[in-house]
Amino acid sequence: MITSYIWAILALVPCTLSLGQVPIISFSSGGLQLAGSGSQTTLILSSADYKGVQRAGADLSADFGRVTGKSLTIKNIDLATTDPSPATGPTIIVGTIGKSKLIDSLISSGKIDVSKIRGKWESFQSQLVVNPMSGLASALVIAGSDKRGSIYGIYDVSEQIGVSPWYWFADVATTPQSKIFALDVTKTQGPPSVKYRGIFLNDEQPALTNWVREKYGGYNSRFYVNVFELLLRLRANYLWPTMWDSMFNVDDTNNPILADEYGIVMGTSHTEPLTRSTKEQSRYMSGNWDWASNKQNVIRFLTDGAKRSKQTEVLYTMGMRGNGDEASPTLTEKSLEDVIKSQQAILSSTINSNLSAIPQMWCLYKEVGGYYQNGLRAPDDITLLWSDDNNGNLQRLPIPSEVKRSAGAGVYYHFDYVGSPRNYKWINTISLEKTWEQMHLAYEKEAREIWVVNVGDLKPLEIPISHFLDMAYDMTQYGEPKSTQTWLMQWATREFGSTVASATASVVDRYGMYANRRKYELMDASIYSVVNYDEADTVLNQWRTLATEAQAIHDSLSVAAQPSFFEMVLHPCKAAYILHLLYVSTAKNNLYASQGRVSAASHGATAVSAFAADSALASTYHKLLGGKWNHMMDQTHIGYTYWQQPSSNNMPSLKWPAANYQKPPGVFVEGGNSKYVLPTLSRYGSKSRWIDIYSTSNSSAAFNIVSDKWVRTTPSVGNLRAPGDTADQRVLLSIDWEAAPSGKSTSKVKVVAGSTVVTVEIPFDNSKVAAGFSGFVESDGVISIEPEHYTSATTSPTASYGIIPMYGRTLSGVALFPVTTIAQTPPSSPKLTYNIYTFTSTTASITLHLAPSLNFDPSRPLTYYVAVDGETPVKAQYVPITQLGTLPSTWTDSTRDAGCKFTTRHKVSAGAHVLNLWAAEPGVVFQKIVVDLGGLRSSYLGPPESMRV
Ligand SMILES: *[C@@H]1O[C@H](CO)[C@@H](O)[C@H](O)[C@H]1NC(C)=O
Ligand SMILES: *[C@@H]1O[C@H](CO)[C@@H](O)[C@H](O)[C@H]1NC(C)=O
Repeated sequence: MITSYIWAILALVPCTLSLGQVPIISFSSGGLQLAGSGSQTTLILSSADYKGVQRAGADLSADFGRVTGKSLTIKNIDLATTDPSPATGPTIIVGTIGKSKLIDSLISSGKIDVSKIRGKWESFQSQLVVNPMSGLASALVIAGSDKRGSIYGIYDVSEQIGVSPWYWFADVATTPQSKIFALDVTKTQGPPSVKYRGIFLNDEQPALTNWVREKYGGYNSRFYVNVFELLLRLRANYLWPTMWDSMFNVDDTNNPILADEYGIVMGTSHTEPLTRSTKEQSRYMSGNWDWASNKQNVIRFLTDGAKRSKQTEVLYTMGMRGNGDEASPTLTEKSLEDVIKSQQAILSSTINSNLSAIPQMWCLYKEVGGYYQNGLRAPDDITLLWSDDNNGNLQRLPIPSEVKRSAGAGVYYHFDYVGSPRNYKWINTISLEKTWEQMHLAYEKEAREIWVVNVGDLKPLEIPISHFLDMAYDMTQYGEPKSTQTWLMQWATREFGSTVASATASVVDRYGMYANRRKYELMDASIYSVVNYDEADTVLNQWRTLATEAQAIHDSLSVAAQPSFFEMVLHPCKAAYILHLLYVSTAKNNLYASQGRVSAASHGATAVSAFAADSALASTYHKLLGGKWNHMMDQTHIGYTYWQQPSSNNMPSLKWPAANYQKPPGVFVEGGNSKYVLPTLSRYGSKSRWIDIYSTSNSSAAFNIVSDKWVRTTPSVGNLRAPGDTADQRVLLSIDWEAAPSGKSTSKVKVVAGSTVVTVEIPFDNSKVAAGFSGFVESDGVISIEPEHYTSATTSPTASYGIIPMYGRTLSGVALFPVTTIAQTPPSSPKLTYNIYTFTSTTASITLHLAPSLNFDPSRPLTYYVAVDGETPVKAQYVPITQLGTLPSTWTDSTRDAGCKFTTRHKVSAGAHVLNLWAAEPGVVFQKIVVDLGGLRSSYLGPPESMRV
């Protein structure tokens, strides 16, 4: 309900084709017609400008061709050699301040005023200028403050005329336009929110590497230029290249040259200082990669790296780790301090004696955080790159004493990982809301110098990459919890058009929530319960609905738009549905086979066909567009037994019951109680309970059910395995509350099936809440609450609660804002209250489901308080404080479950109560509240939300 309501509102927001950009282009009218007037459009560049600007200009020309069928005529004009008649028709002039004489002359003649962007990082201004040069009535003029300022100004036009940054890497179709106009507006943009914004191509085997080998023969510049262009169109500027078995600077010496020419700042991964890839060590260095025993050779090796990169724009990785991606057994705080000092000496002697002018970063990844914890500090001109836990939870952010460092701080984040507790590198598993929640924290805590995200093979992560880089570019648009949904709507509009945008955004948003419940690699048949809360079927139905909706949108699109939709939306929905079908069918097969049910075979057959469908879907992906993305789905993902991937997808084990033609039918009840006792029914809970009557042989049998008259059984008679009948019959039992005795009692239900006679007990509670009560009511010994459904929420002068839609495993998250606020102290601090009604007097366990966030400020551990009625609030500090470089004991479980659980105990009598909840720190995200009054059953997501009266 809530979700569709939000989408309905967002659908009314007028959308341009560009994502979050101030419009400068229209297809209907404007100050200057750029295309469709009959005359050829000219793009004027300067040959004195950066090559990267000229190259992006050529892209703009091609982009006009993609949209209108007519490319631009490019002219390089330098005032010294002025073409007497440069252009008369529609004209776009692009140039960098200080590089393009034409732009400089427009500034000096007062035709443009660039004071808002001059000298600023990556900024640009675009506007219509009357009579910009003799003989030319008007032009769209784009002036860049620097090289990338101009480039982003160019690609702003590309995006606004309808060429997505993903036109090639995700085949987003362009909509043909017959007319394009430049609006008569002056737009200034930049500098970006985060200075260095980029991705790390990593864990690149098998998918990306197999694809690159087939298409390019290796990680050479023919491959990399596609990545450079994509990054620039996404307004990013920074790249850590692949490194599992490649050497960016060696494999193709054009790699670094073209990166620089395009305008990409190259880095190397956290474990590869001074641009030297890991693989280079064995090839170009004498002795071991070991500071203690081989310092002089390491210095020589790194010095060569610095010399090699002297001519290009580089953000240097500093520090040192051990071999490969491991801790060094010999490094200490003292020797690492020496490493960094030596590296700075190398940089100052080879690059620039002014170290502040050289971008440098030290990534506090894994054990490196431990050196910092033990007191090692880097010089102020090195950016501290804080890391997440490889699973999207930031381990640490700048604390007040660290925010004044001149080179600031940044974040290394993950959308993909190889390692414990398990790899995740098959398809997208990212909740955009989670990314927002963590990166918004990072931004507000001043980690604004570098954002770099590990994107695995790049390809299946198009959406999270776009979202991450858009936030990094302009966080001012993404300050609100619901900004993720605004972004999704804009994204869907840009990629697939406004007609399907809200439906697409809704699918992608739900996809992120479902996928984030548990990484696919951590799924197996035991995760979702097939006996409690109808959990497995509910989850499977959600995926089925999603895949069905995605298919319908796909089929409604033009043929040109379908491949892109398949790659980014339909494929992941279908793949995830198939995977869940595989595991739920396997779970039923295994359970039913242990009961001797003949229907185990059909669930086994469903699992087998799902397993086959998984690889068939990968083939469909590979055959798309004549094999353009062949190998991109080579990653195994079924049959993990430990953190590392299996060498092939392995079918989970299935069971077939032994052929049997004598055994009588069996009975199995919801909840799995072997004495046939059903979970309690009440007026305020599940409407019905189920009994499975099942055949264990190939002979048919009749069944009938005899019960008290207030117990409704549907059906109450039938046959198993008779012609037209199935081998199983699920019988639903419900209570006629007006006819049933009041209070608590138990009805006995007699099930007769062939020669089998079983008495099933159905306990029920026909109590009513006190008149006038409004709130959540106990049923089956549990009250389950979605935190956003509070009765009241109070605020304080320094904080209030906000809802993060879709962040959580079932509905949303609730957290304190602003995240920069001081610690909040109950009971006067912002409080959430929930009216609850219990029928049980007991010591209740109140379990909070929370986001799996970590203590990013060790002096302010994540904490909440809970109290029933007027009791003293009980403190819950649910993430143990750890030293940087180590993870809390709770981490493995909360990472596997993509959520944290913590329980406090409270005495509760029967009747109406108020449950009070306080988050004591921003960063605490409540995702579910479960009050266990003795009836909680095992499940993955917890009980469905209780009834509210
Ligand atoms: C060193 O570089 C920084 C950053 O570019 C600059 O602000 C500073 O003025 C430079 N110092 C000297 C002495 O040139
Ligand atoms: C049941 O299975 C037995 C053994 O395979 C077979 O002989 C018999 O014909 C089957 N009966 C029916 C009704 O299918």
